[in-house]
Amino acid sequence: MFEDFKAEIARQISELSGVAVDAVEPAIGLPNDTVHGDLALTVPRLRMRGNPVQIAKTLAEQFKPACSITGAVATGPYVNFRIDRPTITGSVLRAVQAAGAKFGTTTEGAGKRLVVDFSSPNIAKPFHAGHLRSTIIGNFICNVHRAHGWDAVGINYLGDWGKQYGLLALGFERYGSEEALTENPIAHLFEIYVRMNAAAKEDETVNDDARAYFRRMEDGDGPALALWQRFRDLSIEKYKSIYARLGINFEVYSGESQVTEPMLRALQMLEDSGLVVVEQDGSRLVDLEAHRLGRALIRKRDGTTLYLTRDIGAAMDRYEKYSFDKSVYVVASAQDHHFKQLFKIVEALGLPFADRLLNISFGVVRGMSTRTGEVVFLEDILNEAKAKMHSVMRDNEAKYANVVDPERTADLLGMSAIYIQDMSARRIKDYDFDWDRMLNNQGDTGPYLQFTHTRLCSIERMAHVPVNPDADVSLLTEDSAYEIVTLISRYPDVLASAFKTLEPCNIVQYLFKLAHAVSFALEGLKVRGQPDDLAQARLLLFSSARVVLANALSLLGLEPIERM
Ligand code: ARG
Repeated sequence: MFEDFKAEIARQISELSGVAVDAVEPAIGLPNDTVHGDLALTVPRLRMRGNPVQIAKTLAEQFKPACSITGAVATGPYVNFRIDRPTITGSVLRAVQAAGAKFGTTTEGAGKRLVVDFSSPNIAKPFHAGHLRSTIIGNFICNVHRAHGWDAVGINYLGDWGKQYGLLALGFERYGSEEALTENPIAHLFEIYVRMNAAAKEDETVNDDARAYFRRMEDGDGPALALWQRFRDLSIEKYKSIYARLGINFEVYSGESQVTEPMLRALQMLEDSGLVVVEQDGSRLVDLEAHRLGRALIRKRDGTTLYLTRDIGAAMDRYEKYSFDKSVYVVASAQDHHFKQLFKIVEALGLPFADRLLNISFGVVRGMSTRTGEVVFLEDILNEAKAKMHSVMRDNEAKYANVVDPERTADLLGMSAIYIQDMSARRIKDYDFDWDRMLNNQGDTGPYLQFTHTRLCSIERMAHVPVNPDADVSLLTEDSAYEIVTLISRYPDVLASAFKTLEPCNIVQYLFKLAHAVSFALEGLKVRGQPDDLAQARLLLFSSARVVLANALSLLGLEPIERM
């Protein structure tokens, strides 16, 4: 962003200090607080001999104003540089206008590939809060990598295999309806699943039958597999439509059922490498006690395999198919131990991608429920959020009449409320699901961010002048305008650090700061009715803020709204 200014500072400081230009450049960055200056040099990073505070003082005294850098002041071990405001403002706002949707992005990851396993619900079981968080965070992780030039492959690794699917098939024979299945496969299969579990509690033979059925599936029995395949296909179709509503697309639908072949190879490798311990009852495990990870069961005594066993195969399969540079699993912290075991086994096998695996975990959501009770399906939560936002929108009849597609707008607002609540704090924190708090237009919520975006859109719509990147920005004299410019100039850094931490809250916190600064500035800086040159300067400012707000919302996976 401030490349020219940084280059000039680096040139002079290098001359004054004798430190190479290359070594000075990384020590120059944005200060924490712009009260002191617009760019800061962190003197200890120059690794010079002597007292950094004294060195900072001397450097500041000797620095000569140049290239719109109007002065240098030492504060402790920092040298702060002031840059001429109109010059900064012009360069920041022009950069935004030139880059548009690409503002803040880089291509540094070009040629690299990321695989992200996220959402990954279990067919016929509830889509719980953990799956919702995985969906939201996983999508963000894809986006933030794409914003840095990476190729991201999203994988939905369904829970679609195991004894429970034997139970489900038997249940379908008892309670199933073709009509209900095509109508809403997810709900219908869940209903059967619940009934069968109840039946199995009453009668132990039900479980034996389910096991036998699943055995047939594992042995590749045609009719048994055909029924399961239908359940799976119909469920995926339904999932796809719900994800589409969220604007999420998976490159791949995989699942535990899809990795048998690589899993068998993995088992063989484990046997060959002598890592397997055979128990008296015939079950097999990998002893990870030496790593304080317990004993990991990989094959039950009846010969069937486990979630963990399949994950080893799945990891190999992904590497073979996508030769990833990084492979991320976005899964609730309840499974941290599982992933530690998985990664350790992959390492013990000496697989070449062992150091490319990453588990991004997150805390618990308490009390996610709708009017009808605990949430079972993703759709219910989306529908309720939508309905609530729709009724808020209706409160303002005049505005409501102007909204082009109220249904879709209400839906987007509902999703914004859910997403922002979810991403406001660090991932690992647990939080309480709270309808009132998340839907409030005034607080730090999703609807508030969208509302700010619509206000900026409306300013552009109503303006009597066009957005002009060459507007005279020296007319933007107010601090409230400069605050926005400063925040905008930080966006590329914020994006870069969100990429490092994979914490969506970095972006959310930034968005709130920007939205507050915009709300404050909108009070005083009118566009309509102002002389053309002033109107153009302010419009350029607000239009740039709108671009950045939209970019950051999109990065979080939210579609920015134009009217509400
Ligand atoms: N289906 C699993 C669950 O609901 C999550 C799968 C996560 N991905 C994985 N490769 N294990 O708990």
